[in-house]
Order: sequence, then C-alpha cells, then structure tokens
Amino acid sequence: MERTDSDGAPPALGVGMIGYAFMGAAHSQGWRTAARVFDLPLRPVLAAVAGRDAAAVRAAAHRHGWAAAETDWRALVARDDVQLVDICTPGDSHAEIAIAALEAGKHVLCEKPLANSVAEAEAMAAAAERAREHGLLAMVGFNYRRVPAVAYARRLIAEGRLGAVRHVRVTYLQDWLVDPDFPLTWRLEREHAGSGALGDLGAHIVDLAQFLAGEPLVGVSAQLETFVRERPLLAGASAGLSASGGSDRGPVTVDDAAVFTGRLASGALAVFEASRMAPGRKNALRLEINGERGSIAFDLERLNELMFHDHAEPAVTAGFRRILVTEADHPYLEAWWPPGHALGYEHTFAHQARDLVVAVASGTQPEPSFADGLQVQRVLAAVEESAGKNAVYTPVPVPAPVPARAQV
Ligand SMILES: NC(=O)c1ccc[n+]([C@@H]2O[C@H](COP(=O)([O-])OP(=O)(O)OC[C@H]3O[C@@H](n4cnc5c(N)ncnc54)[C@H](O)[C@@H]3O)[C@@H](O)[C@H]2O)c1
Repeated sequence: MERTDSDGAPPALGVGMIGYAFMGAAHSQGWRTAARVFDLPLRPVLAAVAGRDAAAVRAAAHRHGWAAAETDWRALVARDDVQLVDICTPGDSHAEIAIAALEAGKHVLCEKPLANSVAEAEAMAAAAERAREHGLLAMVGFNYRRVPAVAYARRLIAEGRLGAVRHVRVTYLQDWLVDPDFPLTWRLEREHAGSGALGDLGAHIVDLAQFLAGEPLVGVSAQLETFVRERPLLAGASAGLSASGGSDRGPVTVDDAAVFTGRLASGALAVFEASRMAPGRKNALRLEINGERGSIAFDLERLNELMFHDHAEPAVTAGFRRILVTEADHPYLEAWWPPGHALGYEHTFAHQARDLVVAVASGTQPEPSFADGLQVQRVLAAVEESAGKNAVYTPVPVPAPVPARAQV
C-alpha cells in the first residue's frame, strides 16, 4: 500500500480529495504543509482531486498542487495512487462516498457534519468498523479540536485542573445570512445540508463540548428558528460563503439559528447557541467551562489565547489569566515558530493532516472517529426532535460503554 522511496524520504501516502472549494482549499493547504512542518512517518502526496466541472477541477488541481484531476469521484476512489480519500463536499454526498471509499480499501477523512441524518451516520460508522478489521481508518474533520489552545484546554481538563466539570457554555455565531438577499446556496437547502446553523455550526460546538468535557450529552431541550424564509435563487456556482443570486426566490428549508440546553452524562449542564444571523460576529466560536476547581474560556477570534482561572489561588490575586498558547510544550507547537509567533485558522488543517498520517502509519484509530461523528449526529437529531415539540427535553441515545473485558 505504501511506496518506499530510495532517496530516504518517508514512504508516500497518496491522497485523493473530492470537492475543491472552501474546505477543498483549506485541506489542500493542510496536506501540502503537514510534512514540511512536522516529522511525519509517511509523506502525503497530493495525487488527485475530483469535481464535476472538468475545466474548474483542472484549474483547482493546478492552483492547490494536485497532480491529477478527475470529473467523477468514483474514478478518484478507484485510483491505485490514492490510499486515502478526503471528502470536502456537502453533507448529502458524505455517506455514499465514504462507504464506497472504505469498501474500496481506502482510509477516509470526511468533513463535518458526518452526514445529513442519523441513519446515514450509522451506516458510515458501521462501514468504518468493518474497514477497521482490514487496517483502514476513518476520521471526521472537526478541525477546531486541533486549535492548540483547544487541545491544551482538553489537556488541562483531563489532568483534573478544573476538577469535575459543572458547566459547558458554547456559542458559535456568524453573520453572513443577515442580508435577506443572500442567495439560496446548498447550505440553506435541507436535502443538501441536512440542517442549517445546527449542522453547520452546532455540529462543531456539540463535538467540542463532548470532546472537552470527555463525556457525551445525554439529553437536550431546543428551539430552532428560520428568520428569513425565502431567498433569491442561486445564479451560477457558489463557493464557501460566497454566492450571487437572481431575481426569483425560493424557500429556505433549514434553520437560521439553534439554541439549546443539554445535560452531560455526569450531570453537568451545557448551553449552546448557533446562529448565522448575529451582526458583527464573523466566526465567533466562544466557550467557557466551569469545574469545581477552576474555569477555562476560549474565543476562536483570539485563537492563540486560552483564559484559565485556578480557584485554588488566593482570592486577592486569583482571576482569569491569559495563557499565550505558543510555547513549544503546547500541543502542535513543537514544530512551529518561536513563542509568540502566532498561528491561525489554516494551521488546524495541517494539524488534522498530521494526526491522520501518524494514525495511519501506526494503525491506531484517529479521533474524532466516525463513531464520534455519529454521536454528534444523534445530538443534532435530538435537537430537531425537541424543537419540533416546543423544546421538550429529549434524550440522546448513548451506546453502552464497551465492557472492559471486550476492550482490546
Ligand atoms: N471544518 C470546518 O471548519 C468547515 C468549514 C466549512 C465547511 N465545512 C464542511 O465541509 C463540507 C464542504 O463545505 P464547503 O464550505 O467546502 O462547501 P463549498 O460549497 O465551498 O464546496 C463544495 C465542493 O463540493 C463539490 N461537490 C458538491 N457535490 C459534489 C459531488 N457530488 N461530486 C463532486 N464534487 C461535489 C462542489 O463542486 C465544491 O467544489 C461540508 O460538509 C461543510 O459542512 C467544514
């Protein structure tokens, strides 16, 4: 599966990517950068990219450094020089592509949310489990876990610096839908996106809450709202959050905003808000976690900083202090610049590529797994169910832990 090169370079790991717009550009940067910054056991090779428009996919291959272009994702999955398939398309295609790639003997990285429904996510998690028996690995692209300050927050919580977690408070706010004339892109159509702010932004903050607290949500109480119910139909192609519309309008079939509370397995309380309707908030993912011995707070718009309060310190000098997460001993920082030379959004994708390559080389399950992605999907479904019943508390099915005896 891997080629060993005679010049002493690490063996190649051929990557094939499907979709080449917003996430396609971000992932390309991650794949190009990871091996230049980190000492990797395998060398990611950007073998081929797939899209549906021949001229556009060729241009994307040239721009982002892919050796070949395909106009059908099936042809990309079938290529001998592709050992890992990276899925950067809207949610309606994730399940079909991921399952086909795993069954074709490829490792898979799939963008979030894992799927558009629990049923699809279950099929993907089952395919990943079957593929695992053949040494194949699957991971979901919840890249915010790989912001160094977030990874460090997880480390502090796992080390017990906060004690038992009592509160998780997370908001993720953007404002690109405030304009009622922003066109009806796939992100506003249920058949393509599954849900709106909920699946787009809510999926990230549900994953972060469960990752940071180290435990699943067991129930939610939710409200959803669609403030602008009709928008101009798309004129031409959209990419990321850019699009232009025509004069005819069509129905918005997803939520603009989601607010919900939740309970974690330990009894800790969680509060969530996801909106694409918050003027002035561009990519404002903010979280605060309060434990019995301290608190942490994080703001993605100041992503090199982690605020930490140690409640054991004398009250007269205690308070939130700002940790600049750029020291070599902080997660991922050993390979980057000297302290204080800050990182940004794009670095999370290099960290994602690094972690997946290391997992593939060692044959260990990378996180977040498809099972983690499925658990997020169950929370999103419970949020929709609760919102449909005027916020009635709705349990989230949580699989029983694997008995210790059965663990490998
Ligand atoms: N991790 C993050 O921070 C983050 C940010 C934005 C989007 N996303 C996720 O990434 C995925 C893609 O979002 P995006 O913002 O890149 O969207 P986008 O609209 O910018 O790009 C989608 C790409 O998929 C292609 N595509 C669509 N259907 C296809 C098909 N059947 N076959 C081949 N190509 C197809 C489009 O041509 C385009 O290149 C979504 O799941 C989204 O939720 C994640």
